[in-house]
Amino acid sequence: MASVPKTAPNFQAVHTIIIFVFVIILIPFVSSSDSAAARASPATKTVVKQSEAFALLKWKASLDNQSQSLLSSWNESSHCTWVGIGCNDASKVTNLTLDSIGLRGTLSSLNFSLLPHLVKLDLSNNLIYGTIPSQIGSLSRLASINASINHLSGPIPTHIGMLRSLVDLDLSANNLTGSIPTSIGNLENLTTLNLYENSIFGSIPQEVGMLRSLTHLALSRNNLTGSIPASIGNLRNLTTLFLDANSLSGSIPREVGLLRSLTHLSLSRNNLTGSIPASIENLRNLITLYLYVNSLSGSIPQEVGMLRSLTDLAMSWNNLTGSIPASIGNLKNLTTLFLDANSLSGSIPQEVGMLGSLTDLALSMNNLTRSIPASIGKLRNLTTLYLYENSLSLDLSLKK
Ligand SMILES: *[C@@H]1O[C@H](CO)[C@@H](O)[C@H](O)[C@H]1NC(C)=O
Ligand SMILES: *[C@@H]1O[C@H](CO)[C@@H](O)[C@H](O)[C@H]1NC(C)=O
Ligand SMILES: *[C@@H]1O[C@H](CO)[C@@H](O)[C@H](O)[C@H]1NC(C)=O
Ligand SMILES: *[C@@H]1O[C@H](CO)[C@@H](O)[C@H](O)[C@H]1NC(C)=O
Ligand SMILES: *[C@@H]1O[C@H](CO)[C@@H](O)[C@H](O)[C@H]1NC(C)=O
Ligand SMILES: *[C@@H]1O[C@H](CO)[C@@H](O)[C@H](O)[C@H]1NC(C)=O
Ligand SMILES: *[C@@H]1O[C@H](CO)[C@@H](O)[C@H](O)[C@H]1NC(C)=O
Ligand SMILES: *[C@@H]1O[C@H](CO)[C@@H](O)[C@H](O)[C@H]1NC(C)=O
Ligand SMILES: *[C@@H]1O[C@H](CO)[C@@H](O)[C@H](O)[C@H]1NC(C)=O
Ligand SMILES: *[C@@H]1O[C@H](CO)[C@@H](O)[C@H](O)[C@H]1NC(C)=O
Ligand SMILES: *[C@@H]1O[C@H](CO)[C@@H](O)[C@H](O)[C@H]1NC(C)=O
Ligand SMILES: *[C@@H]1O[C@H](CO)[C@@H](O)[C@H](O)[C@H]1NC(C)=O
Repeated sequence: MASVPKTAPNFQAVHTIIIFVFVIILIPFVSSSDSAAARASPATKTVVKQSEAFALLKWKASLDNQSQSLLSSWNESSHCTWVGIGCNDASKVTNLTLDSIGLRGTLSSLNFSLLPHLVKLDLSNNLIYGTIPSQIGSLSRLASINASINHLSGPIPTHIGMLRSLVDLDLSANNLTGSIPTSIGNLENLTTLNLYENSIFGSIPQEVGMLRSLTHLALSRNNLTGSIPASIGNLRNLTTLFLDANSLSGSIPREVGLLRSLTHLSLSRNNLTGSIPASIENLRNLITLYLYVNSLSGSIPQEVGMLRSLTDLAMSWNNLTGSIPASIGNLKNLTTLFLDANSLSGSIPQEVGMLGSLTDLALSMNNLTRSIPASIGKLRNLTTLYLYENSLSLDLSLKK
């Protein structure tokens, strides 16, 4: 506005500039008569309507009284000095970090379109309720959203798929419902997707397989149904995959074996059927493998013995048959081995005695026969040993 036009402006242009200046001067007065924001805080009066500070103060005014007092620094001073606000060199709000301070209110009065420079939004561990406004989709620079541990309800807006710069999305521990929008597949830079502990239903969209940057995927404790999409095998950088405590059915896709970076895999407490794919032998970095409480059948693949980094292996409460593979003796770092409540038969392999780190061993409620191997006596760190409800006999050599 202050720049001098290179050519002499015609009358029309000068006229436009004059009107523009007039409007700018007028705005503070217009805004003072506006809305709850103006009434709730004198600060609003000096703030230009449609500015970032205006948007923030309007939201503050919508929160409950106690929350407003938590934000007492949101006053006439420059908004870049307010608690929880981070700005860039141009004084544009880039960070809104208000975690764990007991904020109570909704997001409906937060005009996201007035905060276009926002990169990081952290509202975790508060008392925020209501729905996630679809307007959030206008934050094109947003790299991180953490709204976990609140009382948000309603569906995840489809517009979330517009946030193509997102790297971390954490909406865990809320009351979200609806299904996972397929638009999520657009978030090519997403590395963390945490949606656990909600009431999300429907199936896991196969578009999740498009999130090739993902390292952490946690959808546990929801009401997801349907089968695990084979496309999950595309997520080659995935280190943790938590899908436990849903109602997933069908078999474990063979493609899980393509996730060679996995360190933690939990599919427990679902309705999975079929056998455990031998392809899991590729998961050489796996530290924990939880498959308990499903309806898996067939035998335990002897390839399990290749997973030498395992510390925790739990396959309890399934319908596994056949014998316990001797290869299990390779798992020198194993501290817990839970294979109880299946239909395993044959004898306990004496290689179990090679699992020197074992602290907890449960083989109870199976169809195991013959004598308990004396080698179990070598497990000096064992604190729990459950062998009940089998057809085992006690070898006298154990008594020595
Ligand atoms: C909030 O404060 C206003 C004005 O001080 C008061 O009228 C209102 O009752 C308060 N609301 C609650 C829920 O405390
Ligand atoms: C605004 O808030 C800050 C931080 O709480 C405080 O230091 C300052 O005095 C306040 N300014 C006004 C004008 O109220
Ligand atoms: C904003 O967040 C980023 C990423 O967490 C952080 O590096 C930066 O220090 C924060 N800036 C401010 C002003 O809070
Ligand atoms: C979720 O909603 C239910 C019923 O509406 C409510 O009882 C529960 O407290 C809510 N949980 C959270 C974390 O908001
Ligand atoms: C995704 O990340 C790459 C590499 O960091 C970056 O060049 C690209 O701009 C990002 N894409 C979006 C949509 O932010
Ligand atoms: C996977 O991880 C590697 C190593 O950290 C990285 O170079 C690569 O860009 C990642 N791939 C994707 C699709 O993010
Ligand atoms: C989700 O599943 C839980 C436990 O299975 C059940 O109590 C709850 O009613 C279900 N919620 C919905 C929305 O289906
Ligand atoms: C698992 O499947 C069985 C039989 O198909 C059904 O009765 C049961 O309700 C299902 N359980 C869950 C948690 O979905
Ligand atoms: C295990 O298999 C038996 C017989 O095939 C069947 O009756 C039972 O329902 C199955 N149990 C589970 C948990 O799938
Ligand atoms: C077993 O555990 C030790 C000590 O934590 C570790 O150094 C080693 O790398 C582990 N072995 C494997 C195969 O992961
Ligand atoms: C256990 O073995 C007995 C005898 O072989 C057989 O009759 C029974 O069906 C088996 N039970 C299970 C749960 O597999
Ligand atoms: C047994 O436990 C002790 C004490 O916790 C530990 O120092 C030792 O490494 C363990 N032994 C094995 C073989 O894991």
